[in-house]
Amino acid sequence: MSSLDSKVVDIHTHMYPPAYVELLESRKTIPLIRRFAGAKDPRYIILPAEAEALDKITTSDPNTVPTNLPGRPVTTHYSSLTQKLHFMDTHGIDISVISLANPWLDFVPSETAGETAKSVNSAFSEMCSTAPGRLFFFATLPLTAPPETLLAAIGHIKGLKYCRGVILGTSGLGKGLDDAALIPVFRALAANKLTIFLHPHYGLPSEVWGPRATEEYGHVLPLALGFPMETTIAVARMYLAGVFDTVPDLRMLLAHSGGTLPFLAGRIESCIVHDGHLVREGKVKSTRRTIWQVLKEQVYLDAVIYSDVGLKAAIDASGVDRLMFGTDHPFFPPLNSDEQGEWESMTWNKESVSKALGADSEAAKAVMGGNAVEVLKLYGDD
Ligand code: URA
Ligand code: ZN
Repeated sequence: MSSLDSKVVDIHTHMYPPAYVELLESRKTIPLIRRFAGAKDPRYIILPAEAEALDKITTSDPNTVPTNLPGRPVTTHYSSLTQKLHFMDTHGIDISVISLANPWLDFVPSETAGETAKSVNSAFSEMCSTAPGRLFFFATLPLTAPPETLLAAIGHIKGLKYCRGVILGTSGLGKGLDDAALIPVFRALAANKLTIFLHPHYGLPSEVWGPRATEEYGHVLPLALGFPMETTIAVARMYLAGVFDTVPDLRMLLAHSGGTLPFLAGRIESCIVHDGHLVREGKVKSTRRTIWQVLKEQVYLDAVIYSDVGLKAAIDASGVDRLMFGTDHPFFPPLNSDEQGEWESMTWNKESVSKALGADSEAAKAVMGGNAVEVLKLYGDD
Protein backbone atom coordinates (compact mmCIF):
# COMPACT_ATOMS: atom_id res chain seq x y z
CA MET A 1 0.00 0.00 0.00
CA SER A 2 1.28 3.46 -0.85
CA SER A 3 2.56 5.94 1.73
CA LEU A 4 0.06 8.42 3.16
CA ASP A 5 0.94 11.25 0.78
CA SER A 6 0.60 9.09 -2.32
CA LYS A 7 -2.55 7.19 -1.47
CA VAL A 8 -5.19 6.80 -4.15
CA VAL A 9 -8.53 7.85 -2.68
CA ASP A 10 -11.96 7.52 -4.29
CA ILE A 11 -14.28 10.08 -2.72
CA HIS A 12 -17.19 9.53 -5.11
CA THR A 13 -18.26 5.90 -4.76
CA HIS A 14 -21.66 4.61 -3.72
CA MET A 15 -23.03 1.69 -1.71
CA TYR A 16 -26.54 0.44 -1.03
CA PRO A 17 -26.81 -1.30 2.34
CA PRO A 18 -29.14 -4.34 2.18
CA ALA A 19 -31.85 -2.61 4.26
CA TYR A 20 -31.98 0.24 1.71
CA VAL A 21 -32.26 -2.27 -1.15
CA GLU A 22 -35.19 -3.93 0.66
CA LEU A 23 -36.85 -0.55 1.07
CA LEU A 24 -36.55 0.09 -2.67
CA GLU A 25 -37.82 -3.41 -3.49
CA SER A 26 -40.98 -2.74 -1.47
CA ARG A 27 -41.91 0.36 -3.49
CA LYS A 28 -44.45 0.76 -6.30
CA THR A 29 -43.34 4.19 -7.54
CA ILE A 30 -39.86 5.49 -8.35
CA PRO A 31 -37.36 5.09 -6.85
CA LEU A 32 -37.79 1.33 -6.85
CA ILE A 33 -36.06 -1.94 -7.56
CA ARG A 34 -38.01 -4.43 -9.63
CA ARG A 35 -37.42 -7.90 -11.04
CA PHE A 36 -38.46 -8.71 -14.62
CA ALA A 37 -39.10 -12.24 -15.90
CA GLY A 38 -36.15 -13.43 -17.97
CA ALA A 39 -33.71 -10.77 -16.69
CA LYS A 40 -30.71 -11.92 -14.64
CA ASP A 41 -30.50 -8.90 -12.32
CA PRO A 42 -33.27 -6.76 -10.84
CA ARG A 43 -33.48 -3.22 -12.23
CA TYR A 44 -33.02 0.01 -10.30
CA ILE A 45 -35.42 2.64 -11.64
CA ILE A 46 -34.96 6.21 -10.44
CA LEU A 47 -35.21 8.82 -13.18
CA PRO A 48 -38.57 10.23 -14.36
CA ALA A 49 -37.76 9.16 -17.93
CA GLU A 50 -37.28 5.60 -16.71
CA ALA A 51 -40.64 5.70 -14.93
CA GLU A 52 -42.29 6.41 -18.31
CA ALA A 53 -40.57 3.37 -19.80
CA LEU A 54 -41.65 1.32 -16.79
CA ASP A 55 -45.27 2.36 -17.28
CA LYS A 56 -45.14 1.21 -20.91
CA ILE A 57 -43.82 -2.21 -19.89
CA THR A 58 -46.34 -2.56 -17.05
CA THR A 59 -49.23 -1.95 -19.45
CA SER A 60 -47.86 -4.19 -22.22
CA ASP A 61 -48.57 -7.92 -22.77
CA PRO A 62 -47.28 -9.78 -19.67
CA ASN A 63 -46.28 -12.77 -21.81
CA THR A 64 -43.74 -10.89 -23.89
CA VAL A 65 -40.29 -10.45 -22.35
CA PRO A 66 -39.32 -6.78 -22.85
CA THR A 67 -36.03 -6.28 -24.67
CA ASN A 68 -35.32 -2.77 -23.45
CA LEU A 69 -35.68 -2.82 -19.68
CA PRO A 70 -35.89 0.49 -17.83
CA GLY A 71 -33.27 1.65 -15.33
CA ARG A 72 -30.00 -0.12 -14.63
CA PRO A 73 -29.19 -3.63 -13.44
CA VAL A 74 -28.64 -4.02 -9.71
CA THR A 75 -25.52 -6.15 -9.59
CA THR A 76 -23.47 -7.20 -6.57
CA HIS A 77 -21.51 -3.99 -7.13
CA TYR A 78 -24.34 -2.09 -5.43
CA SER A 79 -24.33 -3.66 -2.01
CA SER A 80 -21.50 -6.15 -1.60
CA LEU A 81 -18.60 -4.87 0.41
CA THR A 82 -16.41 -7.68 -0.92
CA GLN A 83 -17.19 -6.41 -4.39
CA LYS A 84 -16.34 -2.82 -3.42
CA LEU A 85 -12.99 -3.95 -2.02
CA HIS A 86 -12.38 -6.01 -5.16
CA PHE A 87 -13.07 -2.92 -7.29
CA MET A 88 -10.66 -0.93 -5.14
CA ASP A 89 -7.94 -3.60 -5.34
CA THR A 90 -8.36 -4.02 -9.10
CA HIS A 91 -7.85 -0.30 -9.62
CA GLY A 92 -5.19 0.43 -6.99
CA ILE A 93 -7.56 2.45 -4.80
CA ASP A 94 -6.27 2.56 -1.23
CA ILE A 95 -9.19 4.34 0.43
CA SER A 96 -12.83 4.86 -0.51
CA VAL A 97 -15.19 7.37 1.05
CA ILE A 98 -18.47 5.59 0.41
CA SER A 99 -21.91 7.19 0.27
CA LEU A 100 -25.50 6.20 -0.35
CA ALA A 101 -26.54 7.04 -3.91
CA ASN A 102 -29.41 9.18 -5.12
CA PRO A 103 -32.18 9.72 -4.21
CA TRP A 104 -31.01 8.93 -0.67
CA LEU A 105 -33.90 9.27 1.78
CA ASP A 106 -35.70 12.03 -0.12
CA PHE A 107 -38.76 9.80 -0.62
CA VAL A 108 -39.03 8.39 2.91
CA PRO A 109 -42.11 9.49 4.92
CA SER A 110 -41.42 12.08 7.60
CA GLU A 111 -42.38 9.73 10.47
CA THR A 112 -39.86 7.03 9.55
CA ALA A 113 -37.07 9.15 8.06
CA GLY A 114 -35.15 9.57 11.33
CA GLU A 115 -35.04 5.86 12.08
CA THR A 116 -34.23 4.99 8.47
CA ALA A 117 -31.31 7.45 8.47
CA LYS A 118 -30.04 5.98 11.72
CA SER A 119 -30.12 2.45 10.37
CA VAL A 120 -28.50 3.44 7.03
CA ASN A 121 -25.76 5.46 8.74
CA SER A 122 -25.11 2.70 11.27
CA ALA A 123 -24.85 0.22 8.38
CA PHE A 124 -22.25 2.46 6.69
CA SER A 125 -20.37 2.80 9.96
CA GLU A 126 -20.37 -0.97 10.37
CA MET A 127 -19.16 -1.50 6.79
CA CYS A 128 -16.25 0.88 7.35
CA SER A 129 -15.23 -0.87 10.54
CA THR A 130 -14.77 -4.15 8.66
CA ALA A 131 -11.94 -2.65 6.58
CA PRO A 132 -10.31 -0.19 8.99
CA GLY A 133 -8.34 2.55 7.31
CA ARG A 134 -9.64 1.64 3.85
CA LEU A 135 -13.22 2.87 4.17
CA PHE A 136 -14.75 6.11 5.41
CA PHE A 137 -18.21 7.44 4.60
CA PHE A 138 -20.49 10.36 3.93
CA ALA A 139 -23.67 9.90 5.97
CA THR A 140 -27.25 10.48 4.84
CA LEU A 141 -29.64 12.99 6.39
CA PRO A 142 -33.37 12.45 7.03
CA LEU A 143 -34.41 15.62 5.20
CA THR A 144 -38.13 14.83 5.29
CA ALA A 145 -38.10 14.49 9.10
CA PRO A 146 -39.09 17.27 11.54
CA PRO A 147 -36.27 19.78 12.24
CA GLU A 148 -35.41 18.33 15.66
CA THR A 149 -35.04 14.83 14.17
CA LEU A 150 -32.85 16.22 11.41
CA LEU A 151 -30.56 17.98 13.89
CA ALA A 152 -30.51 14.85 16.08
CA ALA A 153 -29.29 12.89 13.05
CA ILE A 154 -26.29 15.23 12.83
CA GLY A 155 -25.72 14.54 16.52
CA HIS A 156 -25.69 10.83 15.72
CA ILE A 157 -23.33 10.92 12.77
CA LYS A 158 -20.81 13.29 14.32
CA GLY A 159 -20.00 10.53 16.81
CA LEU A 160 -19.44 7.87 14.15
CA LYS A 161 -15.74 7.17 13.84
CA TYR A 162 -15.53 6.83 10.06
CA CYS A 163 -18.03 9.53 9.12
CA ARG A 164 -16.48 12.51 7.32
CA GLY A 165 -19.52 14.41 6.14
CA VAL A 166 -22.91 14.01 4.52
CA ILE A 167 -24.08 13.37 0.99
CA LEU A 168 -26.82 15.81 0.06
CA GLY A 169 -29.13 16.25 -2.91
CA THR A 170 -30.33 19.59 -4.18
CA SER A 171 -33.93 19.50 -2.94
CA GLY A 172 -33.12 20.35 0.67
CA LEU A 173 -36.32 20.49 2.73
CA GLY A 174 -38.35 20.70 -0.47
CA LYS A 175 -37.48 24.24 -1.55
CA GLY A 176 -33.84 23.85 -2.57
CA LEU A 177 -30.60 24.67 -0.81
CA ASP A 178 -31.17 28.44 -0.69
CA ASP A 179 -34.00 27.86 1.80
CA ALA A 180 -33.36 29.90 4.98
CA ALA A 181 -34.79 27.00 7.00
CA LEU A 182 -31.65 25.01 6.12
CA ILE A 183 -29.26 27.46 7.77
CA PRO A 184 -29.36 25.70 11.17
CA VAL A 185 -28.54 22.44 9.37
CA PHE A 186 -25.62 24.01 7.51
CA ARG A 187 -24.42 25.59 10.78
CA ALA A 188 -24.57 22.26 12.61
CA LEU A 189 -22.66 20.50 9.83
CA ALA A 190 -20.03 23.26 9.69
CA ALA A 191 -19.63 23.33 13.47
CA ASN A 192 -18.91 19.61 13.42
CA LYS A 193 -16.54 19.86 10.46
CA LEU A 194 -18.78 17.63 8.38
CA THR A 195 -18.23 18.32 4.68
CA ILE A 196 -21.29 18.30 2.43
CA PHE A 197 -20.86 16.13 -0.65
CA LEU A 198 -23.40 17.74 -3.01
CA HIS A 199 -24.74 15.29 -5.56
CA PRO A 200 -27.46 15.70 -8.21
CA HIS A 201 -30.47 13.48 -8.81
CA TYR A 202 -33.41 15.43 -10.20
CA GLY A 203 -31.76 16.88 -13.31
CA LEU A 204 -33.94 19.17 -15.40
CA PRO A 205 -37.63 18.78 -16.34
CA SER A 206 -38.10 15.94 -18.87
CA GLU A 207 -39.62 18.31 -21.50
CA VAL A 208 -36.19 19.88 -21.91
CA TRP A 209 -34.97 16.67 -23.55
CA GLY A 210 -37.65 16.70 -26.24
CA PRO A 211 -40.05 14.02 -27.45
CA ARG A 212 -37.38 11.74 -28.91
CA ALA A 213 -35.27 11.36 -25.80
CA THR A 214 -36.94 8.46 -23.99
CA GLU A 215 -37.04 6.19 -27.04
CA GLU A 216 -33.83 7.18 -28.76
CA TYR A 217 -31.24 8.79 -26.51
CA GLY A 218 -30.96 6.46 -23.54
CA HIS A 219 -29.90 8.15 -20.29
CA VAL A 220 -27.36 10.40 -21.97
CA LEU A 221 -29.08 13.77 -21.72
CA PRO A 222 -30.26 13.62 -18.07
CA LEU A 223 -26.97 12.15 -16.85
CA ALA A 224 -24.48 14.09 -18.95
CA LEU A 225 -26.29 17.44 -18.93
CA GLY A 226 -29.18 17.38 -16.44
CA PHE A 227 -27.06 16.28 -13.47
CA PRO A 228 -24.32 18.92 -13.91
CA MET A 229 -26.84 21.71 -14.54
CA GLU A 230 -28.75 20.73 -11.42
CA THR A 231 -25.59 21.05 -9.31
CA THR A 232 -24.67 24.32 -10.98
CA ILE A 233 -28.10 25.83 -10.32
CA ALA A 234 -28.21 24.63 -6.71
CA VAL A 235 -24.84 26.20 -5.84
CA ALA A 236 -25.59 29.41 -7.76
CA ARG A 237 -28.81 29.75 -5.74
CA MET A 238 -26.93 29.20 -2.47
CA TYR A 239 -24.40 31.80 -3.53
CA LEU A 240 -27.05 34.37 -4.48
CA ALA A 241 -28.86 33.76 -1.18
CA GLY A 242 -25.66 34.51 0.73
CA VAL A 243 -25.44 31.05 2.33
CA PHE A 244 -21.66 30.91 2.02
CA ASP A 245 -21.31 34.24 3.87
CA THR A 246 -23.89 33.31 6.49
CA VAL A 247 -22.07 30.04 7.25
CA PRO A 248 -18.42 30.80 6.52
CA ASP A 249 -17.20 27.46 7.87
CA LEU A 250 -19.44 25.54 5.49
CA ARG A 251 -17.43 23.26 3.20
CA MET A 252 -18.95 21.65 0.12
CA LEU A 253 -17.52 19.02 -2.17
CA LEU A 254 -19.33 19.27 -5.51
CA ALA A 255 -19.96 16.21 -7.64
CA HIS A 256 -18.86 16.03 -11.25
CA SER A 257 -16.29 18.82 -10.86
CA GLY A 258 -18.96 21.30 -9.86
CA GLY A 259 -21.28 20.64 -12.79
CA THR A 260 -20.62 23.58 -15.06
CA LEU A 261 -19.65 26.08 -12.35
CA PRO A 262 -15.95 26.35 -13.27
CA PHE A 263 -16.95 27.15 -16.83
CA LEU A 264 -19.82 29.49 -15.98
CA ALA A 265 -18.51 31.33 -12.90
CA GLY A 266 -17.38 34.29 -15.02
CA ARG A 267 -20.80 34.59 -16.60
CA ILE A 268 -22.50 34.37 -13.21
CA GLU A 269 -20.27 37.22 -11.99
CA SER A 270 -21.01 39.32 -15.06
CA CYS A 271 -24.76 38.78 -14.69
CA ILE A 272 -24.58 39.84 -11.03
CA VAL A 273 -22.58 43.00 -11.69
CA HIS A 274 -24.93 43.96 -14.54
CA ASP A 275 -28.18 43.21 -12.75
CA GLY A 276 -29.99 46.50 -12.15
CA HIS A 277 -32.24 45.00 -9.50
CA LEU A 278 -29.36 43.61 -7.44
CA VAL A 279 -27.35 46.81 -7.85
CA ARG A 280 -30.30 48.98 -6.75
CA GLU A 281 -30.83 46.76 -3.71
CA GLY A 282 -27.21 47.33 -2.69
CA LYS A 283 -26.34 43.67 -3.13
CA VAL A 284 -23.38 44.28 -5.41
CA LYS A 285 -20.98 45.91 -2.95
CA SER A 286 -17.26 46.10 -3.62
CA THR A 287 -16.70 44.03 -0.44
CA ARG A 288 -18.86 41.24 -1.82
CA ARG A 289 -17.14 37.84 -2.03
CA THR A 290 -17.25 36.77 -5.65
CA ILE A 291 -18.25 33.30 -6.72
CA TRP A 292 -14.60 32.80 -7.66
CA GLN A 293 -13.64 33.38 -4.04
CA VAL A 294 -16.26 30.95 -2.78
CA LEU A 295 -14.95 28.35 -5.23
CA LYS A 296 -11.45 28.78 -3.81
CA GLU A 297 -12.39 29.06 -0.13
CA GLN A 298 -15.44 26.94 0.62
CA VAL A 299 -15.77 24.54 -2.26
CA TYR A 300 -13.96 21.34 -3.21
CA LEU A 301 -14.57 19.64 -6.53
CA ASP A 302 -14.41 15.97 -7.39
CA ALA A 303 -12.44 14.93 -10.48
CA VAL A 304 -15.27 12.87 -12.00
CA ILE A 305 -15.30 14.70 -15.33
CA TYR A 306 -13.71 12.11 -17.66
CA SER A 307 -11.57 14.58 -19.60
CA ASP A 308 -8.55 16.76 -18.95
CA VAL A 309 -10.35 19.71 -20.59
CA GLY A 310 -13.04 19.90 -17.89
CA LEU A 311 -10.54 18.96 -15.21
CA LYS A 312 -8.23 21.85 -16.11
CA ALA A 313 -11.17 24.27 -15.84
CA ALA A 314 -12.01 22.83 -12.41
CA ILE A 315 -8.38 23.17 -11.28
CA ASP A 316 -8.24 26.73 -12.59
CA ALA A 317 -11.44 27.62 -10.75
CA SER A 318 -10.83 26.05 -7.33
CA GLY A 319 -7.10 25.30 -7.17
CA VAL A 320 -5.25 22.03 -7.52
CA ASP A 321 -5.35 21.52 -3.76
CA ARG A 322 -9.17 21.36 -3.84
CA LEU A 323 -9.71 18.62 -6.46
CA MET A 324 -10.34 15.03 -5.37
CA PHE A 325 -10.39 11.89 -7.47
CA GLY A 326 -13.52 9.74 -7.75
CA THR A 327 -15.06 6.96 -9.84
CA ASP A 328 -18.87 7.01 -9.28
CA HIS A 329 -18.75 3.21 -8.83
CA PRO A 330 -21.08 1.25 -9.18
CA PHE A 331 -22.56 3.46 -11.90
CA PHE A 332 -21.29 3.27 -15.47
CA PRO A 333 -20.06 -0.36 -15.48
CA PRO A 334 -18.19 -1.53 -18.59
CA LEU A 335 -20.69 -2.94 -21.08
CA ASN A 336 -18.33 -4.88 -23.34
CA SER A 337 -15.83 -6.31 -20.90
CA ASP A 338 -15.78 -8.20 -17.63
CA GLU A 339 -17.25 -6.16 -14.76
CA GLN A 340 -14.65 -7.71 -12.49
CA GLY A 341 -11.91 -6.12 -14.58
CA GLU A 342 -11.11 -2.51 -15.41
CA TRP A 343 -13.75 0.22 -15.49
CA GLU A 344 -13.41 3.29 -17.73
CA SER A 345 -14.68 5.41 -14.84
CA MET A 346 -11.30 4.73 -13.22
CA THR A 347 -9.08 4.83 -16.27
CA TRP A 348 -10.62 7.89 -17.94
CA ASN A 349 -10.60 9.94 -14.76
CA LYS A 350 -7.08 8.85 -13.84
CA GLU A 351 -5.78 9.57 -17.34
CA SER A 352 -7.40 13.01 -17.20
CA VAL A 353 -5.45 13.76 -14.03
CA SER A 354 -2.18 12.61 -15.64
CA LYS A 355 -2.88 14.54 -18.81
CA ALA A 356 -3.82 17.75 -16.99
CA LEU A 357 -1.06 17.67 -14.38
CA GLY A 358 1.63 15.28 -15.61
CA ALA A 359 1.77 11.62 -14.64
CA ASP A 360 3.23 11.10 -11.15
CA SER A 361 3.65 14.84 -10.57
CA GLU A 362 3.12 16.06 -7.01
CA ALA A 363 -0.04 17.83 -8.16
CA ALA A 364 -1.39 14.64 -9.74
CA LYS A 365 -0.71 12.72 -6.53
CA ALA A 366 -2.55 15.39 -4.58
CA VAL A 367 -5.63 15.08 -6.78
CA MET A 368 -5.47 11.28 -6.82
CA GLY A 369 -5.57 11.10 -3.03
CA GLY A 370 -3.37 13.49 -1.07
CA ASN A 371 -5.96 16.24 -1.02
CA ALA A 372 -8.69 13.90 0.19
CA VAL A 373 -6.46 12.53 2.96
CA GLU A 374 -5.75 16.06 4.18
CA VAL A 375 -9.14 17.67 3.69
CA LEU A 376 -11.24 14.77 4.99
CA LYS A 377 -8.65 13.64 7.54
CA LEU A 378 -8.53 10.07 6.31
CA TYR A 379 -5.93 8.89 8.76
CA GLY A 380 -5.58 7.52 12.23
CA ASP A 381 -7.57 4.40 12.86
CA ASP A 382 -7.30 4.58 16.63
N1 URA B 1 -26.48 7.77 -12.13
C1 URA B 1 -27.05 8.02 -10.94
O1 URA B 1 -28.25 7.94 -10.79
N2 URA B 1 -26.28 8.36 -9.92
C2 URA B 1 -24.97 8.46 -10.03
O2 URA B 1 -24.32 8.75 -9.03
C3 URA B 1 -24.40 8.22 -11.27
C4 URA B 1 -25.18 7.87 -12.31
ZN1 ZN C 1 -22.53 9.56 -7.94
